[in-house]
Amino acid sequence: MNIVILAAGQGKRMRSALPKVLQTLAGKPLLQYVLETVFSLSSKRSGSINPIVVLGHGAEQVKQFLHGLEQVNPQFKTVSTVLQAEQKGTGHALLQALPKLNPKQATLVLYGDVPLTSSSTLANLIRLADPDRNGNCALTLLTQDLDDPTGYGRIVRNQDESIQAIVEEKDADSTVKAIQEINTGIMVLPTPSLKAWLKALKTKNAQGEYYLTDVVSMAVKANLPIRSAQAQEEYEVIGVNSRDQLAELEGTLQFVLANQLMQDGVALADPSRIDIRGTLQCAKDVYIDVGCIFEGCVSLGQGVSIGPYCVVRNSSIGTGAKIDAFSYIDQAQVGDECRIGPYARLRPGTVLAKEVHIGNFVEVKNSTIAAHSKANHLSYVGDSTVGSRVNIGAGTITCNYDGVNKHRTVIEDDVFIGSDTQLVAPVKVGRGAILGAGTTLTKDAPPNQLTISRVKQNSIPWKKPQPKKSIREKVVSKKISAQKLTAPRKRKA
Ligand code: UD1
Ligand code: CA
Repeated sequence: MNIVILAAGQGKRMRSALPKVLQTLAGKPLLQYVLETVFSLSSKRSGSINPIVVLGHGAEQVKQFLHGLEQVNPQFKTVSTVLQAEQKGTGHALLQALPKLNPKQATLVLYGDVPLTSSSTLANLIRLADPDRNGNCALTLLTQDLDDPTGYGRIVRNQDESIQAIVEEKDADSTVKAIQEINTGIMVLPTPSLKAWLKALKTKNAQGEYYLTDVVSMAVKANLPIRSAQAQEEYEVIGVNSRDQLAELEGTLQFVLANQLMQDGVALADPSRIDIRGTLQCAKDVYIDVGCIFEGCVSLGQGVSIGPYCVVRNSSIGTGAKIDAFSYIDQAQVGDECRIGPYARLRPGTVLAKEVHIGNFVEVKNSTIAAHSKANHLSYVGDSTVGSRVNIGAGTITCNYDGVNKHRTVIEDDVFIGSDTQLVAPVKVGRGAILGAGTTLTKDAPPNQLTISRVKQNSIPWKKPQPKKSIREKVVSKKISAQKLTAPRKRKA
C-alpha cells in the first residue's frame, strides 16, 4: 500500500514559527502520531511500510525532526519525503508524491494535522477499499458525523445515500453547511486513476487551491465505486488548525489517558487534573494526586503515592515510594520505599537505593545515594557517591564546581554530616566519620573521627546601638525647642 502524509501546510491559523505538524499534543509532535500509527499497520497484508511525507512550509525543520526519529527508532528509516515548494492545496500536495507511488497498489492519504486516528480505524478503511477483479480499489473515505461540523468539508450524498461530492465549508451554502457528516481528509484512492484526476483539478473555489476533495466528483463521473467508513471515537478524526483546537484535543486526549490509567487500577484524585506527555507505566495501587505532570518514560512501582503538583520526567519510582507535594524529578531512579519532598528536586543521574529520604529544598544531581541515607533539609548533593545510613544535615553543600571542572565527593557508610557543612570536592569522608556543624571540608576526613573546621567561639562586650533619628524627627524636635525659647511670658496679674 502507498501511504502519503500531507504535511506541507504552514498552519497559518496557529500563528507560530513552528510548522503545524511539529506542534505538540501530549508532548509529542502531531506528525509523530500519524507516523507511529502508520507503522503499527504493518502486517503481512500491508507489506513493508514506506510512508511518503509531503513537506513544504518549514521543510528543513520537519526533515530534522524525521532524522531525529530515525535515530531513536530505525524503523523510521523507510520514511521518505517529497517537497511541495509552494502550498497550493491538498490536491497539489498529493501530486508531488505521484512519481513515487506504486500504481499496482492503492494509496492511503493521511493528514499530518489529524493525529489521533487509530490503526484499527485505518485497517478497517483499507479493508473496505478492497480492489475489484480488475485490481481497482474503491475510493474510500473516512467520514464522521459531528455535532459541530464547522470548518470541515461536508459529505454531500444523493437521495440514495451514495456519495456525490465533498464541499469545503468556505464554498458551502447554508444547505450544505447544515450537513453534519464531514470529510476527515483520510482516504484510500485507486492509484491508476490518480494521475488524471490530480492533473484535472481546478482552483475555482473560495481558497483558490487545488482541493484533493474534488477527486470525489471525478470518481462519481467515472462511475467508480465510492465507499465510506467512520471511526469509533470522534477524537480520532479531529483536525488541528488553531491553538484552541490543539488545546481542546489535548484536553480530550488527557481525559482518555486518565481513564485508561483508572481502568488499569490507578487511583487518580481527579482525572481531569493530570497531564501525561509520554508513557506512564503504573503497577498496582498507585495513587496520584492533582496537578501532576508526567513526561517521557515514567514508571511507578506498586503502591507508589505521588503528592499534588509534582513533575516526573523520564524516571522510575520504586515500590512503595512516596513523593510529596511540589517535587520535581528528572531522569532519576528512586528506590523502593523512598520518601521524597515536599519541594525536592532530583536532577539527571540521581540514583537512590531503598528507603532514602530526600526532604524539602534538597537538590540532588548525578549522585548515587545508598540505602537508608537521609538529606532532609536545604542541601545540595551533586556529583557524589553517598553510602548507606548517612545523615546529611540541613544546609550541607557539595562544592562540586571550581568554575571550570566538576569534581566528585565521596561519603562512605554511616557518616554523620553536621548542618551547614561545605564539602569542597574532590573530597572523601571516611566510613563512620562525623563532620561538625559549619565545617568547610577541604581535605579528606578520616573514618570514625570527628572532623571540624570552625572559627573559635569568642564573646566580647557589646553595646546595643540606638536607632538613628530620621531627618523629620530631627526637624520636629528642633521646632519644639524653638517654640519653647520664644514662648510668651506669662503676664502678671
Ligand atoms: C482539509 C480538507 C477538508 C477536511 C479537513 C479535515 C481539503 C481541500 N480540505 O481541510 O475537507 O474536512 O482537511 O481535517 O482537502 N497541506 C499540504 N499542502 C497544501 C495544503 C495542505 O501538505 O498545499 C496539508 C496540511 O499540512 C495539512 C493537510 O494537508 O496537514 C490539510 O490541510 P489544511 O489546510 O489543514 O486543510 P483543512 O482546511 O483542514
Ligand atoms: Ca486541517
